[in-house]
Amino acid sequence: MSLLSHFCRRIRLTGPISVGELMQDVIMDPKHGYYPQAARIGHKGDFITAPELTPVFGEIIGAWSLLYWQQAQLPINVHFTELGPGRGTLMRDIIDTVGIIGPAFFGKAPKLSASLIEISEQFIAEQEKLLCGNVRNPITPQQIFDNPNYLTRTGLHKARFKWYSMLDHLPDDRPTLYVMNEFLDALPVNQFQKTEEKGWVEIMVDVEKDENKLFYTTYKTGRSIKVDQDKDYAKLPVGTQIEHSPMSGKVVTALSERIAKSGGAALIIDYGEDQMSTELTFRAFKNHQQVNPLEDLGLCDLTADVNFRDLKKSIAEVDGVKAHGPITQSSFLTLMGIGERFRQLYSRVPEEKQDSIIHAHNFLCSPEEMGDRFKVLCVTRESDPVPFCFEGASS
Ligand SMILES: C[S@@+](CC[C@H](N)C(=O)[O-])C[C@H]1O[C@@H](n2cnc3c(N)ncnc32)[C@H](O)[C@@H]1O
Repeated sequence: MSLLSHFCRRIRLTGPISVGELMQDVIMDPKHGYYPQAARIGHKGDFITAPELTPVFGEIIGAWSLLYWQQAQLPINVHFTELGPGRGTLMRDIIDTVGIIGPAFFGKAPKLSASLIEISEQFIAEQEKLLCGNVRNPITPQQIFDNPNYLTRTGLHKARFKWYSMLDHLPDDRPTLYVMNEFLDALPVNQFQKTEEKGWVEIMVDVEKDENKLFYTTYKTGRSIKVDQDKDYAKLPVGTQIEHSPMSGKVVTALSERIAKSGGAALIIDYGEDQMSTELTFRAFKNHQQVNPLEDLGLCDLTADVNFRDLKKSIAEVDGVKAHGPITQSSFLTLMGIGERFRQLYSRVPEEKQDSIIHAHNFLCSPEEMGDRFKVLCVTRESDPVPFCFEGASS
């Protein structure tokens, strides 16, 4: 049975579901879900991410991590945690950079380790191959859900890699650099609309009577009653539509609590705005084209913009930590010297490859591409120094 037929049957049995429920289940259904089974990242896939475009992106995150490690005077066992590592490319480039320049930086080789939070069997296999050279035994969905830490291996630069299904399962007793690139935009959002008669109502997904076709409708739900009670939204005019991602809030709260307890920092990189949400951004991509999210379920990427203002509110509720930024991806990369790095590469590659270097730089930094749409938010302990690149951007 296709995922669309499955959802149509489910909605006929149980009634309309929220956009958030649809997003979560379509993306993560172990049998037919997009990430466990069908996700395609890269030029030939449905969408491309910065690390898949050029290793320079991961090099820069690796170099920033070393600078921060030194600024915060952390012990030289460097531990990373990545949420939603996709094909593992970013972690490979970070570990490679820290493995190569770490010894000169610290005066001796740092002991490296990394935790990866992932529940897609397809991506776990790709990550294991890239970071450890091969796949020892393919991980099954059952293993992922039965074992908090379902895989441990040594790999690149003798780093110890551990895979977990949830952040909650990870020990929280050591300083850690948390990295998320295009992870939060994959987490479910709920959508609401302000009406004259009923106040805020929730946008839900229902099924056509005699057809396997989904459509949007609105209902007064428990969640929309909570929006009615939120003073922030009271002044918005009738007709306004907003989006909320409670799960993203929970993730950054959990990260912040871990940083408050044991030190370290988080870099959150994603597309979105730093202001109150007043438009709906839930959408789908297939073959780099935007498509209808209610068709081709499980075969296209579902995503929504990240609301950095909401993330900062969640971080501010945790004692002992501070949010820095967000700053634009272009500012972050430029301050970290991406221009100089690309100039070096440009002068070293054969002429026929020079265009691809210019293209990668423009794609990451120009305001029309990722440069302004993508933001970088950093979380550190309140007592730690303001991290490099975020001077003047702390709230
Ligand atoms: C858009 S991809 C990110 C790709 C990668 N970070 C990069 O930069 O190329 C989203 C990643 O998050 C993972 N993911 C999505 N929802 C998740 C969840 N609820 N729990 C754990 N991993 C999840 C996916 O399997 C995938 O690895």
